Amino acid sequence: MKKLLLDKTHQAYHITRTLSYVGEYKLVQNFTKLFSPWVQVPDVPQDQRDKRDMILQDIKAMYEEDATLFSEGILPYSVLTPESPLKHLKRLPKIMLASVRMGRQRKLNITRPSHSEEGLPDYFKRNFHWQIDGYLSRESAELYNHQVEILFTGTAQAMRRLIFKPLYEAIKDKKPEDVQILEVAAGTGEISESVSKAFPKMNYTISDLSRAYLSGAQERLKNRKVNFIQAAAEDLPFKDQSQDVVFSVFLFHEIPSSVREKAIQEAFRVLKPQGRLIIVDSIQKQDMPDYQWALYRFPIDYHEPFYKGYTEWDMTQTLKEAGFGEPQTKRGFLTKCVWVDKP
Ligand SMILES: C[S@@+](CC[C@H](N)C(=O)[O-])C[C@H]1O[C@@H](n2cnc3c(N)ncnc32)[C@H](O)[C@@H]1O
Repeated sequence: MKKLLLDKTHQAYHITRTLSYVGEYKLVQNFTKLFSPWVQVPDVPQDQRDKRDMILQDIKAMYEEDATLFSEGILPYSVLTPESPLKHLKRLPKIMLASVRMGRQRKLNITRPSHSEEGLPDYFKRNFHWQIDGYLSRESAELYNHQVEILFTGTAQAMRRLIFKPLYEAIKDKKPEDVQILEVAAGTGEISESVSKAFPKMNYTISDLSRAYLSGAQERLKNRKVNFIQAAAEDLPFKDQSQDVVFSVFLFHEIPSSVREKAIQEAFRVLKPQGRLIIVDSIQKQDMPDYQWALYRFPIDYHEPFYKGYTEWDMTQTLKEAGFGEPQTKRGFLTKCVWVDKP
């Protein structure tokens, strides 16, 4: 009875959340059309609209799976605490204005941020998703997660939470104080807060190449036991065999193929024997024929120069070449979680 009640609460929470993000999606889309009519706002084609029921069922299935994380006690319900509505609403006008600027950037094909920082690799200095300043400014960091949730109509957090089952399985029998978890490309800490709430006693380090995004994460997680370090996934400043788990969320589709390979090799190097690598990222070409349209349109509409290569990448082969065993996979809507152990 209690479980049923909790599952229903979880369902109501996500329906409300998704509806509110659908509203914000429409608002931002119409605002952009009104104030930058020359911009072609990507629309969903008719054959995809016909798949609406299938898509809704697929999202529902992801939420049902997500609910088990809470009912099985892997995640505390406090993870679902929404941010202050005032803070949320204050950000919305900024997102609407940014969307007009992003439309202009797209129209003029401005793919690089107007300023740069020393020491960053060239592939990184880009306006991914037409984000103003790419990953190089506080403004971008402030808006990023809210923009992502609007784009995915509120489903992004549940997609990110796919990491939790393999993460929990990897560390549940270890003494918490001895466990080292490393998150690579944590952004502004979108999933990190939940990880730190679920495993408060573990040694948790989060890293990202963007100083601005890492500052955002530091602000968000200031009261939690977390270490922060600015670092590239392909050149991790950690000792060999020092980590029990290395994970990343939404990194691999944004890096070139040679960097993807190096990042996997680095994860292998820093993992302890029997350590686990967990990757949450977009589905790939072979994963879900019904979503091929999204895989085709996303890099065109959102300036993602490495995305097509990512969707065609043989991840399993790269993992095996690095020394890992056979990976396992779980899909949730447009995302999949791949996990694999070091022998
Ligand atoms: C799409 S965002 C994902 C952020 C966050 N993990 C999330 O769940 O939304 C990609 C992140 O990867 C970071 N990034 C890109 N290339 C990187 C690299 N080579 N090493 C480390 N971080 C990188 C960016 O700064 C950005 O924060």
